[in-house]
Amino acid sequence: MTTLIRNGRIVTAVDDYTADILVDDGRICTIGKNLVVGGDVEVHDASGLLVLPGGVDVHTHLDSSTPTARTVDTFGTGTKAAAFGGTTTLVDFCTPIAGVSPLKGLEDWHRRRESACVDVGAHMILLDANPGTLEDMKTLVRSEGVSSFKLFMAYPGSLMVDDGALFKAMRVAGANGAMTCVHAENGPLIQALIEEAVDQGLAAPKYHALTRPAILEGEATHRAIRLAELAATPLYIVHLSAAEALSAVTEARDRGIPVHAETCPHYLFLTAGEYERPGFEPAKYVMTPPLREHSHQQQLWRGLKTDDLQVVSTDHCPFCFDEQPYGMQFSKQQGVESFSRIPNGAPGVETRLPLVFDGAVVKHGMSLNRFVEITATSPAKLFGLFPNKGTIAVGTDGDLVLFDPGERWTIRAAEHHSRVDYTLFEGRAVTGRVKKVFVRGQCIVDGANWRGREGMGQYLRRGESGRA
Ligand code: URP
Ligand code: ZN
Ligand code: ZN
Repeated sequence: MTTLIRNGRIVTAVDDYTADILVDDGRICTIGKNLVVGGDVEVHDASGLLVLPGGVDVHTHLDSSTPTARTVDTFGTGTKAAAFGGTTTLVDFCTPIAGVSPLKGLEDWHRRRESACVDVGAHMILLDANPGTLEDMKTLVRSEGVSSFKLFMAYPGSLMVDDGALFKAMRVAGANGAMTCVHAENGPLIQALIEEAVDQGLAAPKYHALTRPAILEGEATHRAIRLAELAATPLYIVHLSAAEALSAVTEARDRGIPVHAETCPHYLFLTAGEYERPGFEPAKYVMTPPLREHSHQQQLWRGLKTDDLQVVSTDHCPFCFDEQPYGMQFSKQQGVESFSRIPNGAPGVETRLPLVFDGAVVKHGMSLNRFVEITATSPAKLFGLFPNKGTIAVGTDGDLVLFDPGERWTIRAAEHHSRVDYTLFEGRAVTGRVKKVFVRGQCIVDGANWRGREGMGQYLRRGESGRA
C-alpha cells in the first residue's frame, strides 16, 4: 500500500520544515515538495498540522501479573489506546516467573503480544542473577532482540534483588550491548516503614506515599549509579520522580558516566495533594514511586530541558478502580482495607503526547524538536530502535502522527480506548491533539475512527541498547 501525507510541517528532533511524505510498503520512500502520485495512492492533507514521528513509549505493563494483581489492558486494548494517543511503538516489560528461565517468560509474553495493534518490543525483568539467568541474558540479547533488563531495588520478597545480583546482571548487560534499567527505591527501608504504619493501624492510601519518601529514591538512585559505574555499564533509571534522584543522575552525567533517566507525565503534572482526595479515591494515584510535592516538579522540568532527563514514558500499569466488570484481580479495591494491598500502578498510555506537548511546549516554552526528542527519538536511540523508529527520514518506518498544535480539548476517561475505568487527568484541559496516526504507512487512527486491527503490530527485535 502507498500513502501520501501532503503539506505537513515535519518535525523531528533536529528538523522543522514543510514537505510531502510518501510511504510505500511500510517505509518512507520520498520526502519532497509537491509530490505527484497516481490515483491508487491514499492521500492525507496535513496542511496546518504537525507531522511527528510516531511516539515511542518504553515503559508499559500490558496483560501482566504483579505480586498481587494483573493489569487490565490486553496488548490489543493497550496498544489501541497507545495509537489514539499518538504512540506507535511500545517497549513492554516481560515479567518471568520466579525460578523459571526468562526465556520461558518471553515465550509466554509473545503469546500475549500477538494481539498488538502497534509495534512492540520487550524488556526482560530479572528476578535473580543465578548463572543460568546470566547465560539467558546473552541469549536474549543475541537471539531474541531483547537488549534491556530491569531489576528492582524495591519490593523485598517478590521482585527485589540484592546489590550483588544487581551488579552481576549489570556486568553481563554491559558486556553484551544491553541497557540495565533500575527501579531505584530502598526496598528494605520502605518495607520497615510500611510495617510500622500497618502496626499503627494506618490504612488510608496516602500512607503509600508517606512510606516511600523521596530520600529513599535518591539513596537507591545514587547506589545504582555507583554499581553501574563499577560494572562499566550504561544505566537507565525508570520512573524517576524525586529531585534527590535527579541530583544523583545529574552529578554522574556531569562526570561523563553513561546514566540516563526517564520521568512520567504523572510526576510532571500531579502532586502528593491527590492523596488528600476523599474516601478511597486516592488509590487511583497509588503508583511507585508515589506522587511528590510540587518542588520536585520544577527540578524535573529543569532536567528535561538540560538533558539530565532524556525520556518521558508512561509506566502504563492499569488497574481498574471498580471491581466490576473485570474482577478483583484487576482492581484497586483489593486495597480498600489497607494501603499496603493496593495494586501499585496507574494508566497513561493514551495521554502522554498531548500532556507533554501542552506542558512542555505550550506552558514551559520547550522547542518542538526537544518535544519530539523526549517522546520518540531518545527512547528509540537508547533502546536499539533508531532510526527505524523515532524519526522521519527516507528508508525508515512510516510511523507518523498528524498533530494539531492549536486544538484545545478536555481529557475524559469515557472517551479512552483502554479497559481501565479512570484517568489520572480527568477534566484536564490541554492544547494539542492527535488527529491521525499511521503505522508503517497504514492509517489506523483517523480522528475518532479506528482503522487498525488487533494483530497488525509487529515484534521489534532490538539492536544494541544504551549507547545513545
Ligand atoms: O507502580 C508502578 N510503577 N507499577 C509498575 C511497576 C513498576 O515498578 O514499574
Ligand atoms: Zn518500577
Ligand atoms: Zn513500570
